[in-house]
Amino acid sequence: MRRVFHNPRFWVFAVCLLPLTRLIVLGFSGGLGANPIEFITRSLGTWTLVGLMVTLSVTPLRRLTGHAELIRYRRMLGLFAFFYACLHFVTYIWLDQFFDPAAIVKDIVKRPFITVGFAAFVLLVPLALTSTHAMMRRLGRRWQQLHRLVYAIAILGVIHYLWLVKKDLTDPLVYAVVLTLLLVLRLPWVVHALQAVRSSRRVSPQS
Ligand code: HEM
Repeated sequence: MRRVFHNPRFWVFAVCLLPLTRLIVLGFSGGLGANPIEFITRSLGTWTLVGLMVTLSVTPLRRLTGHAELIRYRRMLGLFAFFYACLHFVTYIWLDQFFDPAAIVKDIVKRPFITVGFAAFVLLVPLALTSTHAMMRRLGRRWQQLHRLVYAIAILGVIHYLWLVKKDLTDPLVYAVVLTLLLVLRLPWVVHALQAVRSSRRVSPQS
């Protein structure tokens, strides 16, 4: 048991469960406010977006700090983002739409912010399904290509938030700035990788 507490993975796991624990505690103590469904949906949406941002920050952090071991937590963080996205979606189809398929489809088609959120959720599914080491080995280079979808998902998540907010855009804009920073931070490595590919082609011109 002592070993478990010395394992950083245990603490990352425990921290990732805090938003859900908070919702459960608030639920039992009557702290969900005047509109509990909205509170739960919004809270789960927020933690999905936070989870995506934290997952996206692992690679730049690892490169900037030289802490290669950070990569060990990326899969767990990504899966927690998916877990909160599932809860967010289930809250919506259950408490908001009462499992009415016609109403859900109509809403997804009619309200652009729901369309975008749904697209982000659908794109997350293949990433979660292929997150195992076995799938990583099986897909090889295609795994990396597929998992680049996470950038599109995060962008869609921010658009979803920007689109649903009616008055004060501050919060979604903060996420937009953080996401832009996370993407810009990757540029030097992208440029470097492209240069490496180009120079390797110059050394061995086969086509
Ligand atoms: C990766 C996928 C998604 C992300 C990152 C995401 C994120 C968010 C965020 C950040 C919020 C606002 C939280 C706040 O106001 O503090 C939100 C609200 C909401 N989302 Fe999502 N969402 C996603 C997918 C979905 C899906 C699939 C649906 C339904 C089909 C959905 C339906 C809603 C609804 C109904 C609200 C509340 C709107 C309101 O209260 O006016 N979201 N979401």
